[in-house]
Amino acid sequence: MEGIKIIGYGHALPEKIVSNEDLSKMVDTSDEWISSRTGIKNRYVSEQETNASLSLAAAKEAIADSGKKEEDLDLILLATVTPDYVTPSVACRVAAELSVKKEIPVFDFNAACSGFLYGLYLADRLLKVGQCALLMATEQLSKITDFTDRSTCVLFGDGSGAVVVEKKKEVSFDCFVGADGNAGPLYCKSLRFTKDAYIHMNGKEVFRFAVDKIQKSIARILEQNHLTMDDIDYVVCHQANYRIIDYVRKKLHAPEEKFFCNIQNYANTSAASIPLALYDMRQQGLLCPGKKVIVVGFGGGFTWGAALLDC
Ligand code: COA
Repeated sequence: MEGIKIIGYGHALPEKIVSNEDLSKMVDTSDEWISSRTGIKNRYVSEQETNASLSLAAAKEAIADSGKKEEDLDLILLATVTPDYVTPSVACRVAAELSVKKEIPVFDFNAACSGFLYGLYLADRLLKVGQCALLMATEQLSKITDFTDRSTCVLFGDGSGAVVVEKKKEVSFDCFVGADGNAGPLYCKSLRFTKDAYIHMNGKEVFRFAVDKIQKSIARILEQNHLTMDDIDYVVCHQANYRIIDYVRKKLHAPEEKFFCNIQNYANTSAASIPLALYDMRQQGLLCPGKKVIVVGFGGGFTWGAALLDC
């Protein structure tokens, strides 16, 4: 089957770590409440870093890891809900720092926490066999977090993940994405710092949507590719809440080690969470050649998507 394969991984994180303990000095919360409800222990929060500086660092690492040169790139994509400017895009600012060809598509897009899945979908459709793309997913959710609202400020973090993908002829790859326009339960109206600019969320409704959509997405990928869970080495869900991931894992009777989880270190980094998880898995030696991985994203919009990847 023709499709894309990830050939390089990169990441970047702000310097500052904020623990649950730190947050409990700012709002009425506790490490016990946050850990037991979400699995989160720490998150990174930007101070000096910009979306572009994090993206560039992650991009350079991914390109070096892929063995490709900057001038080999045929497409540059960046998923974010927290760009530095309205224009130019973060992707253009990253491209300006790289030695890329002059006439390739370079753009940001917003699919909220499903951004990395939308990026895989776009890369697969926009590339021809032999071509390669840089896909970055970078968020600074601290820019749109109300640090006086305990129901949201404990959940989110900043970070960047990047991959280089190449279009290949013989590869197991499948990807679908979707959206339903249900904007009520999770929204942020603008990047300007007014009350409306912060993330607003109905946590219970988002939780119900997430567990339903992840299960259906995994089932669809398995069915379309004539596979069962036994054929899959790892499932990487968007890291929004450990309880969401664990709920789905139990429903599918899958062992804990099959559902990778690193939310304890980063909190919910929106579009960046899946590439950050893939990066950590790679560092831990889990993504060996021949392994099959399902990645599943979901988020504001509502949006969702899933993909089958060959390592
Ligand atoms: N610390 C302490 N108490 C808190 C708190 C915090 N940080 N945040 C909320 N609470 C309180 C609430 O005020 C509520 O108190 P009350 O019963 O006196 O009104 C109580 O804790 C229970 O809140 P509840 O909303 O019922 O908790 P929950 O078990 O549903 O967990 C979430 C809340 C947000 C962790 C959970 O709903 C969730 O993860 N939803 C999905 C969110 C998500 O994934 N978003 C991103 C999608 S991309």
